[in-house]
Amino acid sequence: MKPKVLVTREVFDETLQYLTVHCEVDSNQEDTALTPNVLAQRLADKEGVICSLTDRIDSALLERCPKLKIVANIAVGYNNIDVPACTARRIMASNTPGVLDDSTADLAWTLMLGAARRVTEVERKVRNGEWTGWRLKQWLGTDVHHATLGIVGMGRIGQAIARRAAGFDMRVLYHNRKRVAEEIERKLNASWVSLDQLLREADFIVLQVPYSPATHHLIGADELAKMKPGAILINSTRGGVVDDAALIAALGNGTIRAAGLDVFENEPNLNPGFLELDNVVLAPHIGSSTEATRRAMAMTAAKNAVVALTGGIPPNLINPEARKS
Ligand code: DGY
Repeated sequence: MKPKVLVTREVFDETLQYLTVHCEVDSNQEDTALTPNVLAQRLADKEGVICSLTDRIDSALLERCPKLKIVANIAVGYNNIDVPACTARRIMASNTPGVLDDSTADLAWTLMLGAARRVTEVERKVRNGEWTGWRLKQWLGTDVHHATLGIVGMGRIGQAIARRAAGFDMRVLYHNRKRVAEEIERKLNASWVSLDQLLREADFIVLQVPYSPATHHLIGADELAKMKPGAILINSTRGGVVDDAALIAALGNGTIRAAGLDVFENEPNLNPGFLELDNVVLAPHIGSSTEATRRAMAMTAAKNAVVALTGGIPPNLINPEARKS
């Protein structure tokens, strides 16, 4: 008998085909998030779930899933999963690191360049017919080249962001709980500094730390006040790392120059204050959203699930303790 799995949201055909070879698949291809109750009902007889960051996998849900062995998230971030609750029930949890690093780094750079050169702001003006001709002091932006880049969170994606800075002749500072290996620092030409120093010295601050209670509102009013008035803040990681209300105030009163955001508190119901501001580039959580990367993420999650359900160790297992007897 094949193990039963649930795919909670729409995926690609090849993902479903692959899963069907190994599993009995129940899938929600309508692409709307299942309510917690429906999710629990559909998981009651399942051994595996291929889910996304819009599914909350918490202990109340797990209580109702007695057969579950693997929660395979289609994302590298897994703050939607209560990992300790999974571990306590010997349920494996996995994510999709690696396959999305470059696409997410590209999007962080898109936001940096877009915010620095005011691309979405001036695009709106062009569309509104407000462009009446060339002027010397028109819509002046900020140079990215030769500026100081500060990366908060130097994991794989942070490093991919730093690699791209070489082409812009930037000075690269980073802050991470743990310093990365000296060899990596050398290759990236990046120097570890305290968060405080980074906030005070960087022209561009890119946030790439995972969201957790420890990083909740890592950037709030106090941290924004430490930044240069010309600083540009990029959040390409998770909503909640930034206090959105504090950021809106800082963008409105000139504490910092601009921001580029792919993620928000309470997505998709972002704080309406952002919509009033010209100096923020807004993207709808598309960091990893390229055709190739999203296909790779879905397939990675499916493989993690199949490996787990056929007695193996999923390559991207988050909680190895769940397998200990
Ligand atoms: C991730 O992988 O964590 C992304 O945010 C999903 O798009």
